[in-house]
Amino acid sequence: MAKITWKSGTMLAPLPPALISCGTMDKPNVMTAAWTGIVCTEPTLTYVSIRPSRYSNQLIRETGEFVINVPTVKLAKAVDLCGVKSGRQVDKFALAKITPAACDKISAPQVLEAPVSLECKVKEITSYGTHDVFLAEVVAVDIDDAYLTDAQALDLSKAGLLAYAHGFYYALGKQIGKFGWSVEKKSTKKKRAARLQAEKSGKVQKAKSQTLRLKKTAVKRKKAGEYGRK
Ligand SMILES: Cc1cc2nc3c(=O)[nH]c(=O)nc-3n(C[C@H](O)[C@H](O)[C@H](O)COP(=O)(O)O)c2cc1C
Repeated sequence: MAKITWKSGTMLAPLPPALISCGTMDKPNVMTAAWTGIVCTEPTLTYVSIRPSRYSNQLIRETGEFVINVPTVKLAKAVDLCGVKSGRQVDKFALAKITPAACDKISAPQVLEAPVSLECKVKEITSYGTHDVFLAEVVAVDIDDAYLTDAQALDLSKAGLLAYAHGFYYALGKQIGKFGWSVEKKSTKKKRAARLQAEKSGKVQKAKSQTLRLKKTAVKRKKAGEYGRK
């Protein structure tokens, strides 16, 4: 293997090609942005980098609000459309056949079809060269309850998440581990293997009680903030 060095570039991948909705319910707009991410856990801070030429840049400056909608494979065509057409010329919600829905804490619309939508209030705008960075606080998160487990944890494994890498869209692959899995205790690993085995051999009742125990542990750990928040 030989690694070669290129000049600096935006080669981080995969990224979420998020749908950034903004404006108001009366006049909603939505654009695609891959330059987005989490900055801080507490307070929950996020950012989106938007070129000054985008209509959304103007709208977000006016209202101080936007929503980051998590993209899925089902939404892939809408994601691409919202990234090549401007709200100055077209109603992209209508064009992409997606639905604006009211938010809980802000006046900007969210995308109903997205499994998760982060309602954001702008704290700071910093202009760097090509892009303006909108640093914002996440004031509420709207979740499709189809992705909540019995223990009320968010499980996006069946959401069909969409990724973006250097100009191409990808469907996220299968789940291969979980947070802390590389250092998991042998006993926990054994319990999970036993549960899977029981499920396979049809010992459903035993499997159910084991699942319940694991869920109770998960809830306890979640309450203790043991995982999921980095
Ligand atoms: C996959 C993808 C990712 C994009 N990421 C960004 C981004 O991070 N920042 C940005 O300013 N534009 C980005 N764009 C381009 C805007 O989405 C595009 O210019 C859009 O038409 C702007 O819409 P508006 O004028 O309605 O705001 C991206 C486009 C695509 C297809």
